[in-house]
Amino acid sequence: MTDGPTTTLGTTITLDIFRYHPEQGKKPIMQRFHVTINKSGMKLLDALNSIKWHQDNTLTYRRSCGEGVCGSDGVNINGVNGLACITPIEGLKQPIEIRPLPGMSVIRDLVVDMTHFFDQYRSIKPWMQTTTPTPEHEHLQTPRERQQLNGLYECILCGCCTTSCPSWWWNGDKFLGPATLLQANRWIQDSRDEATEERLEHLEDNFKLYRCHQIMNCMQACPKSLNPTKAINEIKRAIVERKG
Ligand code: SF4
Ligand code: SF4
Ligand code: FES
Repeated sequence: MTDGPTTTLGTTITLDIFRYHPEQGKKPIMQRFHVTINKSGMKLLDALNSIKWHQDNTLTYRRSCGEGVCGSDGVNINGVNGLACITPIEGLKQPIEIRPLPGMSVIRDLVVDMTHFFDQYRSIKPWMQTTTPTPEHEHLQTPRERQQLNGLYECILCGCCTTSCPSWWWNGDKFLGPATLLQANRWIQDSRDEATEERLEHLEDNFKLYRCHQIMNCMQACPKSLNPTKAINEIKRAIVERKG
């Protein structure tokens, strides 16, 4: 996404934004807006905010932190999923097309219904489970054990990976998708968790796990540079080793 024109202060950029208000019963449209670059390093979220605050306060989208931490402003930008708050306008091809994350039903404009996504996340019991008595102080890990969680704990559940996965579009009712599987691996790899057997048993399923066909869209879409494909392969390996 770096083939667009240079955007200097005072220039005007053009955005085509998906608009849909299901309760009004009208078809979705792409609406054109123009925004003036008013600061250097302007991000896409700044442009959305400018439209909402100065042109059309009915434009609806999610955002909170503005810093790539909360994961709430995942959208499809010129055909690629990403977080609006950390996507520089500089270099984006114009008109910049902004649509909701694909494969989810739209509540309004850029806001999608994440209920199923978070139900899937809950299904892997994303918390530490132990059977041995709780230690008096913290659960200890060696530096090496802690290192195992790198590349997993950083996931902010934005959904950019899952909604770019063709297997999830087609079988999202049963396939857990890359985000949930990466999170599942986060607990499988955690030396302090004592439910590994149950977790692997739960995931060993033709649909939940094995619908991943290694298309790797997920990896390319992740704004935190995580690798769900690798996490999925680690789960598959753990299942094989458990039997071996
Ligand atoms: S690697 Fe697997 S999870 Fe990732 S996009 Fe492809 S099918 Fe989906
Ligand atoms: S793996 Fe990356 S893209 Fe997927 S939900 Fe986590 S942070 Fe978002
Ligand atoms: S607003 Fe929080 S990640 Fe973008």
